Amino acid sequence: MIEICGVSKSYNRGMVKAVDGVNLTVQNGEIFGFLGPNGAGKTTLIKMITGILNADQGSIRINGQDIRENPIEAKMQFGFVPDDPNIFSRLTGIEYLNFMADVYGVSPEIRVQRMQKLLERFEMSSAAGDLIQSHSHGMKQKIIVIGALLHNPPVWILDEPMTGLDPRSSFDLKEMMREHAEAGKTVFFSTHVLEVAEKLCDRLAIINKGRVIFCGSLQEIREHALENQSLENLFLELTENE
Ligand SMILES: Nc1ncnc2c1ncn2[C@@H]1O[C@H](COP(=O)(O)OP(=O)(O)OP(=O)(O)O)[C@@H](O)[C@H]1O
Ligand SMILES: [Mg+2]
Repeated sequence: MIEICGVSKSYNRGMVKAVDGVNLTVQNGEIFGFLGPNGAGKTTLIKMITGILNADQGSIRINGQDIRENPIEAKMQFGFVPDDPNIFSRLTGIEYLNFMADVYGVSPEIRVQRMQKLLERFEMSSAAGDLIQSHSHGMKQKIIVIGALLHNPPVWILDEPMTGLDPRSSFDLKEMMREHAEAGKTVFFSTHVLEVAEKLCDRLAIINKGRVIFCGSLQEIREHALENQSLENLFLELTENE
């Protein structure tokens, strides 16, 4: 469960208000989609949830652990896939995964099993021995996803996770997200692909200029929207420039 209460964040000494008084609760057992135009504040909010940035105002708890007050306990609750997979490029995939397993205290026996299973699932078993800098964008993305899941976190936080993945890997990841939610755990992800959001999410929020302008289930969207209005039309209408 992720609880976001009254969170705001400005950049450049208050010149850019990136996130403006956001309240959201992501329940256990749900896939929650986070949508919004470029620059709406999605990544900024995700960086605050994951403790990369401090909020100017408000509080965030992950499975009851406050990210500011108990950062280590809070971070043990989630696995995070950032929007940019260009990290640790001079390590091999396997070195990176072992590093992640060390950070999260995953025992040698368990890490080997999980790595094997995940590398096979994403067809990365042979490429994982190569330097990350030699990987394609999608391969880097897969290694990051595997690294984020090695400690078996109850909460998944994914910033545009499908970007660069081929159709099979994207399908597999979506299936894994569904399995995770069905096991009573939490998935929070941002996306620009409305079809994915429509098919995958139990609930979603649309953010524009730092504010949540819609939050609800697909059912509620259909009730909110005009007859037969698609998520695309609703998105365009809600995020239209004044
Ligand atoms: N490090 C930074 N310094 C200054 N301004 C920033 C910084 N990062 C983001 N911003 C600004 O904050 C606002 C929100 O950006 P953010 O990256 O959170 O948007 P986003 O919704 O993730 O967009 P996208 O869909 O393009 O990924 C934008 O106006 C952006 O210019
Ligand atoms: Mg972003």
